[in-house]
Amino acid sequence: MLQELRPQTIIEPFRIRSVEPIRFTTVAEREAALRKAGYNPFLLHAGDVLIDLLTDSGTGAMSSQQWAGMIASDESYAGASSFYRLEAAVQDITGFRYVMPTHQGRAAENILFTTIARPGHVVLNNTHFDTTRAHVEHVGAEARDLVIPEGRQPRNLHPFKGNMDLDALRAAIREIGPENIPLVMMTVTNNSGGGQPVSMANIRAASEISHEHGIPFFLDACRFAENAWFIKLREEGYADRAPIDIAREMFSYADGCTMSAKKDGMANIGGYLAMNDDDLAVRCQSLEILTEGFPTYGGMAGYDMEAIAQGLYEALDEGYLRYRIRSMAYIGERLAAAGVPHVQPTGGHAIYLDAGEMLSHISPLEYPAWSLANALYLLGGVRGVEIGSVMFGKQPDGSEKPAAMELVRLAFPRRVYTQSHVDYLLEVILGVYAQREALRGYRIVQQGPVLRHFTARLEPLA
Ligand code: F0G
Repeated sequence: MLQELRPQTIIEPFRIRSVEPIRFTTVAEREAALRKAGYNPFLLHAGDVLIDLLTDSGTGAMSSQQWAGMIASDESYAGASSFYRLEAAVQDITGFRYVMPTHQGRAAENILFTTIARPGHVVLNNTHFDTTRAHVEHVGAEARDLVIPEGRQPRNLHPFKGNMDLDALRAAIREIGPENIPLVMMTVTNNSGGGQPVSMANIRAASEISHEHGIPFFLDACRFAENAWFIKLREEGYADRAPIDIAREMFSYADGCTMSAKKDGMANIGGYLAMNDDDLAVRCQSLEILTEGFPTYGGMAGYDMEAIAQGLYEALDEGYLRYRIRSMAYIGERLAAAGVPHVQPTGGHAIYLDAGEMLSHISPLEYPAWSLANALYLLGGVRGVEIGSVMFGKQPDGSEKPAAMELVRLAFPRRVYTQSHVDYLLEVILGVYAQREALRGYRIVQQGPVLRHFTARLEPLA
């Protein structure tokens, strides 16, 4: 008998039967494209980008099974079989009784927070994603982040940096009063904190603390499958459990979830709000009808619901998760070996380069992370996103304050790029790193009143 091979090469757990060409450009062409875009990668035409790591949201490749479901979808207004397939899949994985389809994650957040939160309320979360925070604040409530201190330290190797600080949770409940906390939420994985996972023990404990005080506990479940995989890899007692069982246990501690199916739903659009509470479900459904659509399609076409019903299971496939999370770790290992500063350990869906450290010669208000993101595009046609002082620096009173960190997020679309794309990406990052002294800061020449990073126009400093 031959010994089993333990291959070091990461191979994609699929073969490719439909391809989309990407366009190679020269540095001079990219210079021109970036100048035309006001030096803002958001304003580039995607056709001018070689490797697009702007987001992992809705950018993944669908499987032949998903396309098959889409062709066979039921587009009935009410009671479509495609809805019942989605409902069955979500119930099977989460155990929640009510499943309300929405056009994407933020629509589920809108329905949930409009229904349960009001001025004077405080919503607690490990870290609110931007849209979650915006919806909480939109109804006049406060959004408070309670991630553990390790979660804010780029080089701290804690295995579950997305965990909630349980002492801070207890203290916040004491201070605010349970009657003013409509919901405790846990974002898995913690996107804003670097795609970092939350342990099962932490989910269980946060749920217990919330329930002791009669406060509902929900998951922001966008990347639930990636979180389940990290629990399998890193938490004692889970190594032999299937990702789907781990996911079921995660959801068993929650009263409901919001979901963007553009992430671990493996779809290009869609989401849902799911829960157990009869009364809350009736109230949420009324708003769903008003803002999204009839409860058996919400914001989606039948074919979108088919893609998600199938995609949720594919996201939990062991071979897929091993490949996905291993690819991130591989990049992290190469960056560490070359001394390139980045958030460690690597998370589930993205790599976060630490521009604050890499470009310490550029002061925060000359936007080092913006400069790094643009350099990656100029040198290699790679598009990432700044998470730094352009995104967070502008204060409500119009003044500027440096962000807590200066990061560039490189988020990976699911099943889209291969090992050679990753190796090329590493060459580009190392190439920029070698020339980092030559990078200059930027100044903003035009900006909108809120969320300026999406539309601002900038200029490189001389
Ligand atoms: N929650 C988390 C944790 C997210 O990462 C996102 C989206 C949402 C909610 C909102 O979902 O986009 O379907 O409305 N994150 C994307 C990103 C946009 O690039 O990280 P949505």
